[in-house]
Amino acid sequence: MAQLIEHPCVQHKLAIIRDEETGHKRFRELATEITQFICYEALKNLPTIEVKVTTPVAEATCRKIDTKLVVVPILRAGVGMLDGILELVPTARVGFVGLYRDEETKKPVTYYERLPPQVRGGTCIVIDPMLATGGSTSAALDILKNNGASDIVVVCIVTCPEGVEFVETRHPDVKIYAAAIDDRLNEKKYIVPGLGDAGDRLYGTSH
Ligand code: PRP
Ligand code: URA
Repeated sequence: MAQLIEHPCVQHKLAIIRDEETGHKRFRELATEITQFICYEALKNLPTIEVKVTTPVAEATCRKIDTKLVVVPILRAGVGMLDGILELVPTARVGFVGLYRDEETKKPVTYYERLPPQVRGGTCIVIDPMLATGGSTSAALDILKNNGASDIVVVCIVTCPEGVEFVETRHPDVKIYAAAIDDRLNEKKYIVPGLGDAGDRLYGTSH
């Protein structure tokens, strides 16, 4: 099952980002803010290593992250979550997977792949605000695994039961984190109530 982030600060921002009256500038800011909260939880189980640090007073026993992180936004809407996660893990590497949903079939079409070698052996975080049918996320996970990735989490903002089931059936090893699991998909395979077309709302390209 996907893990929901139910923190009131996330849910409050989600209410605003869903609102059709929220314009692209505020939408982008909220996508960044919500991503930070979700990733804070999604990265909770990262491996750490003990290190000694000399403070001005004494030696402290501390912990540092002990894996190579690769953030993978699914183009184009996933880029709207990139700043948010990089605020948490600024040294992460970034790989890109370009996918769009064919308007007729609703199936993902791959048009770009650029992944750093650290996907093999590192920890990959796939980011995309919308996990609808799950086709795009599942295709991105196939691409990552074909490039040697084995430790992967997915962070989205809104998903729905059909999409979660689709991804979990194909990738049971991958945990999904989301701020909302909505009711269903409509006949156009949009999430209901969702937030509309995330790419258009992020980049102001609908009208
Ligand atoms: C959206 C969204 C996901 C995908 C979700 O992208 O950002 O990538 O649809 O749908 P799915 O779960 O049914 O595959 P879109 O194809 O609209 O491309 P864009 O990001 O370039 O706008
Ligand atoms: N893509 C979006 O941007 N929104 C949806 O609801 C479904 C797919």
